Amino acid sequence: MSDRIESRLKEDRRFQPSREFSAHARVGSHAEYAELYRQSIEEPEQFWRAQTQDLVFRTPPKTFVEWKLPNAKFFLGATLNLTESCLDRHLVTQHRTRAAIVWEGEPGDVRTLTYFELHREVVRLAAALTDLGVIAGDRIAIYMGMVPEAAIAMLACARIGATHSVVFGGFSAEALRDRINDSGAKVLLTQDGAWRRGSVVPLKKMADDAVAQTKTIEKVVVYRRMGSERTPVEMREGRDVWWDDLLGRHPSEKALALAKSPPAFDAEHPLFILYTSGSTGKPKGVLHTTAGYLAGAHVTTKFVFDLKDGDLYWCTADIGWVTGHSYIVYGPLSCGASCMMYEGAPNFPDPGRFWKVIERHGVTILYTAPTAIRAFIRWGDDWVNKADLSSLRLLGSVGEPINPEAWTWYHKVVGKDRCPIVDTWWQTETGSIMLTTLPGAAYSKPGSTGLPLFGVDIAVVRDEGQDCAANEGGKLVIRRPWPSMARTLWNDDERYLKSYWDVMPNVYFTGDGARKDEDGYFWVVGRIDDVLNVAGHRIGTAEIESALASHPSVAEAAAVGKPDDLKGQALVVFVTLKQGQAATKELKGKLTEHIDKEIGKFARPDQIRFTDALPKTRSGKIMRRLLKEVASGALETKGDTSTLEDLGVLAKLRADEE
Ligand code: PRX
Repeated sequence: MSDRIESRLKEDRRFQPSREFSAHARVGSHAEYAELYRQSIEEPEQFWRAQTQDLVFRTPPKTFVEWKLPNAKFFLGATLNLTESCLDRHLVTQHRTRAAIVWEGEPGDVRTLTYFELHREVVRLAAALTDLGVIAGDRIAIYMGMVPEAAIAMLACARIGATHSVVFGGFSAEALRDRINDSGAKVLLTQDGAWRRGSVVPLKKMADDAVAQTKTIEKVVVYRRMGSERTPVEMREGRDVWWDDLLGRHPSEKALALAKSPPAFDAEHPLFILYTSGSTGKPKGVLHTTAGYLAGAHVTTKFVFDLKDGDLYWCTADIGWVTGHSYIVYGPLSCGASCMMYEGAPNFPDPGRFWKVIERHGVTILYTAPTAIRAFIRWGDDWVNKADLSSLRLLGSVGEPINPEAWTWYHKVVGKDRCPIVDTWWQTETGSIMLTTLPGAAYSKPGSTGLPLFGVDIAVVRDEGQDCAANEGGKLVIRRPWPSMARTLWNDDERYLKSYWDVMPNVYFTGDGARKDEDGYFWVVGRIDDVLNVAGHRIGTAEIESALASHPSVAEAAAVGKPDDLKGQALVVFVTLKQGQAATKELKGKLTEHIDKEIGKFARPDQIRFTDALPKTRSGKIMRRLLKEVASGALETKGDTSTLEDLGVLAKLRADEE
């Protein structure tokens, strides 16, 4: 949407939650929000103690925070088994028989797991993992689709203190291999195949290719989703074991012991590693620890989604991204919520699938991404209007800026003008939602991510660090540590410091550009570093460039984003070829396949442009700013080109239309 930024600047409509919604909301007025926020900043220890009272600590915390770069520690002295907060505590209440997960497979099969059943499956797998020799601190890779077993796998790791590293099922074997090698994972949990748009994604086959190039994986546990007729897999003797065989028919003695008295871990025990894109070719292994992460996920889920008994909450993200970690698994389960989980594509067998899922199960809260919303708009209102959506009461958006047009459509066509929308801004590194409008407490402005959440000291600043004036664009930074923040990057404290804390002294730099308006509402424009947000997927330009450069025909590559109606940003790559290589259509196809193989299909460039040279500064840096302008079709170069080595390169690039 070429008018995105402009319309965001002009947007001044306000949408007030209904009186009825506010009357029943956890936080029902702006004054209540402001008081809680004040307490969270001025008396953080009291705030977090009060708000985490329903979590289970084995030993209570002694000190709330200790902050010495690069190490933040929260809830010092506490010990806990995080899964007791997500599972065990519900077994002694009426939640025991409540659905924890309502799952629908792409072919239409449905499974419901109560809290009792989920707990039983988790402890059985946890015990079985210890039988394989897994001990606390070991890393376990999880490469699965959207099946309940993916959540069970994560919780089973947490039960025994193993650190999980979930790798999105859309990543290629190569990407999985790199993540296994970086984390040194000992066991890989996967499945024979996963449904996607009517076809089977052969996860085990890709896992085999990845594991063949790793040294640390000792065992591969395979969940049977498809069955051998549909998806035959090769089981390697001594290494591979079927999930069901591993668990056995009845809970083992060990499982019964783990069910009753799970071990307790330090508050700062590593809970998971999640790889995300940064500004170099190597993905960052973001590390989250136990108590602070749980506190952040729990408190934000409770307030932002305003959970109530009787809600069926559906976060449509994949479990392989942070949204799936915090808002399918840890946050909602720690609140005792019933969570909808859907396996497949939103347009299978037709574009009405999401709405049918909502109607069939009575979903009350829907949390999805702007890219999906824009696709729904394209597919037409009829698909939405055909379904009964009267169960919905609250809508959410996450992952990228939502343009006001999409916001308004979501509000009107899906929410029938009666469901508040929470536009939530956060990141893999923040662990939990940082900015939003609490649904009963504040009006929304379409396109704005709203106000800071509890404990979040966030600001828009100039390059030198002073606050920007109202509506002046600048860098989005966070000025004090918060419980669910990433503690470091796996095995790389130095990169952690350099990426986030050294850009401006003593503040966390988000990588985003934003402005804050006269009402204190934040408007996030998007990344200002070398990271793209394509269809809600975070992709590092350097990752794409180094993948392309590893192709034998490529001399050099530069990746940039350009505005896109559907995906928010589209990926455009400029490629120079090695001597003697012909710039053909076939080669474009081969380079696309190469990206599929190195990273995954979701990172496919939207456009590949061959060029004789890339515009560079005299010191040899690729001028991405200029390439962005060329990619988006700007005829005049707005930026300063005084350092451009050869202006002729730029003229040629512009002329070289596809
Ligand atoms: O640029 C921001 C954008 O997504 C980035 C974080 O990506 P990731 O770590 O993959 O996490 C995505 C899910 C939390 C941010 O730096 N972003 C996320 N949510 C929003 C957003 N941009 C605008 N509005 C949002 N609500």
